[in-house]
Amino acid sequence: MIAEIQKRIKEASTFITNDPKELEKFRIEYLGKKGHISSYFAQFKKVNVSEKKEYGLAINELKKVTHLKLEDLKKSLNAKKNSKTANKDLTRPASMLELGSRHPISIIRDKIIDIFYKIGFNISEGPEIEDDWHNFTALNLPEHHPARDMQDTFFINKNPDLLLRTHTSSVQIRHMENNQPPIRTISPGRVYRNEDISARSHCFFHQVEGLYIDKNVSFADLKQTLIYFTKELFGNSKIRLRPSYFPFTEPSAEVDIYWGLNSETDYRITKGTGWLEIMGCGMVDPNVLENCNIDSNEYSGFAFGMGIERIAMLLYQIEDIRILYQNDARFLSQFKNSI
Ligand code: DAH
Repeated sequence: MIAEIQKRIKEASTFITNDPKELEKFRIEYLGKKGHISSYFAQFKKVNVSEKKEYGLAINELKKVTHLKLEDLKKSLNAKKNSKTANKDLTRPASMLELGSRHPISIIRDKIIDIFYKIGFNISEGPEIEDDWHNFTALNLPEHHPARDMQDTFFINKNPDLLLRTHTSSVQIRHMENNQPPIRTISPGRVYRNEDISARSHCFFHQVEGLYIDKNVSFADLKQTLIYFTKELFGNSKIRLRPSYFPFTEPSAEVDIYWGLNSETDYRITKGTGWLEIMGCGMVDPNVLENCNIDSNEYSGFAFGMGIERIAMLLYQIEDIRILYQNDARFLSQFKNSI
């Protein structure tokens, strides 16, 4: 009898499987109600007194070995289940890569760039940290000019004077300083203003600046360009030009597009009028040309500057500008299908 138990101990300790069903069979065979161990215990009373001690020890040993074996095999089965390579069907097609989405500001910026690119505008860029000359003085905004207050400025340093550019018009100057007419350029970029943050305005935002300088450029050219641009971006919408003032253009105008009032967001963004001001524009002031060494008797031109956020908010029906800067994946993932 004891020899039989010894044999079982050997069997149990050498048992091996990677099939959970086999393991369960093993458990029942050894530890089940009608299994080996309970049957050996049941036979305990029939064993000779002299052998009882050795017999008891043997059963206990068998029990211990069986339990250890079970633990061991369970652990290795679990490890296999969790391991990355186990049970992999290597012929399965790969799962789709999750694509990111582009930011709505980038999408609108690129649309604007494409529209002007088609009619021969190139792209120019300038620094976000600017000096007084490029941001103000060369744009016909000398020191103490009251129009400087139109844009609350973040100043960085007095001497040398450094500030965060308040508009992309500074790139006009840089471009004219380095290129002779004919000039057709657009300059997208980020700008900064020391303004309170609210649903409608932020202390930084994005603009696209446009500049066209050549011989005999007239206000009619500006208007046609604007009509082309707004038709491309907004579809068949009306625009209107309101006389306005900018120190760097003369005459100057602000451009509104008629978007309509089809949603509550439209009401909010257009302040209940259906019209949205999208840009400032005008004929480049001769002083500005002269500041960049361009002969204002020979050349004339137009310029315009627009805010990207406003356009994005209207086209995507976004009510609060702040959501554009929060990098909330739930918001951004909605632009996955936009190009
Ligand atoms: N720089 C102006 C602003 O930020 C926008 C602007 C108006 C740009 C008229 C221009 C322009 O080029 O001609 O408010």
